Amino acid sequence: MQSCEFVIRPLTGNDAGAVLAFSRQIGGETDHLTFGPEGLPLGEEQERGFLEKAADTPDRLMLGAWDGERLVGTAEIARLSNKARLAHRAQFAVSVARSHWNRGIASALACRCLQRAREMGCTVVELEVLENNAPAIHLYQKLGFSTVGRHPCFFRYADGRCAPALLMHCYL
Ligand SMILES: CC(C)(COP(=O)(O)OP(=O)(O)OC[C@H]1O[C@@H](n2cnc3c(N)ncnc32)[C@H](O)[C@@H]1OP(=O)(O)O)[C@@H](O)C(=O)NCCC(=O)NCCS
Repeated sequence: MQSCEFVIRPLTGNDAGAVLAFSRQIGGETDHLTFGPEGLPLGEEQERGFLEKAADTPDRLMLGAWDGERLVGTAEIARLSNKARLAHRAQFAVSVARSHWNRGIASALACRCLQRAREMGCTVVELEVLENNAPAIHLYQKLGFSTVGRHPCFFRYADGRCAPALLMHCYL
C-alpha cells in the first residue's frame, strides 16, 4: 500500500472553491455519483453559504481530507429532519479522489461521521449505493451497514440506462 499523509478537518466557507473543484474532478472519475464532470450545481458563494451554515449546526458535519494543500476526500453526515418522528435518522455520503483510493481515507472519514451521528443522538445512518460499486459496498459492510432494500432505477443516465442501487442502514 502507498503511504499517504492526510489530515481530516471540518470544511469551512473558505473551502468552497476547493470543494467545487473537487466535485468536478471526482464527477469526471466515476459514474457512481449524482453528478458528472460538471460537478455540484452550485456557485462558489452558494457553496460558501452552505458550508458556513453546516459549520454552525450540530446536525450536520462536512469533513475534508487533505493531502498537503490538496482536497482529496469529502464526507457528510446530516440529520434527515428536525421533525420529531424523523430526527433519529442521519444520511451519510463520502467520496475520495481516484488517485487516493485504497489508502483508508474513506474509512477514516466515515468513522468520524458515525461518531458525530452518535453524538447527535441518531440511531440509524442511511445511504444509497449503486449495486455495481463494489469498493463502496465493501467499505459500508465493513463499517456495519447492511442492505435493507433496492431501487431498480436509482440513476438514469443520459443514454437511458438505469443503474440500480442498494439502500443500506447502519444501526448505532
Ligand atoms: C468508495 C470510496 C469512497 C472508497 O474510498 P477509499 O478511500 O478508497 O476507501 P478505503 O481505502 O477506506 O476502503 C476501501 C476498501 O474497499 C476495498 N476495495 C477496493 N476495491 C474493491 C473492489 N473492487 N471490491 C471490493 N472491495 C474493494 C479495499 O480493499 C478497502 O477495504 P479494506 O479496508 O477492507 O482493505 C471511493 O472509491 C470513491 O470515492 N469512489 C467514487 C465515489 C463513490 O462511489 N462514493 C460513494 C458513493 S455511495
